Amino acid sequence: MKKNATIDVLITAEALAGRVHELAHTIAHALPPDVMIVSLLRGSFVFTADLIRALHLQGASPQVDFITLSSYGNATTSSGTITIMRDLTEDVRGRDILIVDDILESGRTLTFARNLLQERGAASTHIAVMLEKPGKRKVDITADYVGFSIPDKFVVGYGLDYANYYRELPFIGVVQE
Ligand code: IMP
Ligand code: MG
Repeated sequence: MKKNATIDVLITAEALAGRVHELAHTIAHALPPDVMIVSLLRGSFVFTADLIRALHLQGASPQVDFITLSSYGNATTSSGTITIMRDLTEDVRGRDILIVDDILESGRTLTFARNLLQERGAASTHIAVMLEKPGKRKVDITADYVGFSIPDKFVVGYGLDYANYYRELPFIGVVQE
């Protein structure tokens, strides 16, 4: 995989946009209008930016905060220890939280995030992800709101990266090997 690799479109920008509006409709009817969004950086910043504007169109007025989590351990063992690289700014005590991430794969990142917020006294935690890979879960966790279920392929674009490249692509693509 290299920077000038060919990328096959898996989900078009139009399909992503349409799905974001459907998710926002569902979320706005299910969660309180002043829900606090906790966006997991870096991958979820594009989805979060689209989702909050779609939520506005549905009459919601979310607050937004960011946390950067990092998974350490090497790929061969996938030990999956998560650490906080940059913490939230806001106090989550008593708040209804919507955790937003780019993709749910092993589930370790989202499990860590949800446990952290619950330990800090969040009133409720729900999870929205743009993508999920079924059958890849290492921990038992499900997202409340899912954009698309995708095949077990490494994808980039719409905030998702390979070595911090390709986040700017407006579509979800698969890098050709
Ligand atoms: P999990 O903790 O295994 O669920 O992994 C979630 C994180 O791994 C996501 O937030 C992404 O940053 C990254 N990730 C998982 N699959 C992909 C992929 O196909 N492309 C790019 N990043 C991925
Ligand atoms: Mg990533």
